[in-house]
Amino acid sequence: MNDSLNLENIKKELEEKLRKVSSEQDLLNIQIEYFGKKGILRQLFSKVLEVPVEQRKDLGEKINNLKKEAERVTSERRAKITGVEAVENTDLYDSLPGRKPEIGHIHIISQAINEIVDIFKPLGFTRVRYPEVEWEYYAFEALNMPLTHPARDEWETFFINAAPDKKYGRMVVTPHTSSGQVREMLKGNLPIRMLNISRCGRRQIDISHVPSFYQFEGLVVDKEISTTHLKGVLDYFASNFFGEDRKTRLRPYHFRFTEPSFEVDIDCGICHGKGCKLCKEGWLELGGAGMVHPNVLKAGGIDSKEYTGFAFGWGVERTYMMKSGTKIDDIRYLFGNDLRFLEQF
Ligand code: DAH
Repeated sequence: MNDSLNLENIKKELEEKLRKVSSEQDLLNIQIEYFGKKGILRQLFSKVLEVPVEQRKDLGEKINNLKKEAERVTSERRAKITGVEAVENTDLYDSLPGRKPEIGHIHIISQAINEIVDIFKPLGFTRVRYPEVEWEYYAFEALNMPLTHPARDEWETFFINAAPDKKYGRMVVTPHTSSGQVREMLKGNLPIRMLNISRCGRRQIDISHVPSFYQFEGLVVDKEISTTHLKGVLDYFASNFFGEDRKTRLRPYHFRFTEPSFEVDIDCGICHGKGCKLCKEGWLELGGAGMVHPNVLKAGGIDSKEYTGFAFGWGVERTYMMKSGTKIDDIRYLFGNDLRFLEQF
């Protein structure tokens, strides 16, 4: 084959084509034709191996020169068409690796919720949801906190600007998942093993509070339910969720809707009980628990002489933060939507 003639022709042809192009798209097509993976120039290089050994070096050099020339004239033409000055090292071969699309994953809070559901499921708990915008009645009144009762203050409630209802009162952003207790009882299906997980709202923001957060609420109502059942379920959850090395404790407390009432604490996963900026004293409050108050059963249409129950309500985020290894020392990170943070979980 007459290589030099061929190469010369190829260059001429390319120049001819370049002269005719007027759009970037046409230019791109030419680039693909000449510089692409199966392009004319690549094919030429593969021909080097077809000639006798002593001619290979010479032919290789010629093709290389042609390639440089071709790159030069193409870049010049591109500069003319686009008005952008030709840059040396223009990537005519489009050889830059593509950008990988980012693949998301389930948010850390949803992961925690899924895990909580999975732990309670084998015990017979069913996940339910109740309104996130709720009547004052279910959030307070039905839970043994009448209209003017000062205990309501603890719930730092957001009220909705809407007309109140005669029976149910004002509308609120659900301040706790306990508001689902009486709704569940009123369904009339006994016994009850409820796991209510929902978004709640309160007027508080600091290192361990956000105005919009999640709680999970357990409620069991059956015949002969006692505090031992409550303790057993809490211990079961703690050992499954936090691991054997974490400790919990029950502290006597007071809630209007349980009697007796407790607060459940877990030793801090950051300092392991020594005291740090998050927990201060080595223990972190997970939330409340107790035996359902007879007035609450009554509001739910359940005879408290026949049935008893226990309940507990904890913050999802806080519970997750206390898990070994998560080392999250400010609840606000969870809602910051900073991918550098979220990608770690
Ligand atoms: N609802 C309470 C709160 O938000 C927590 C709570 C306490 C839930 C005692 C319960 C309970 O079910 O029995 O602070």
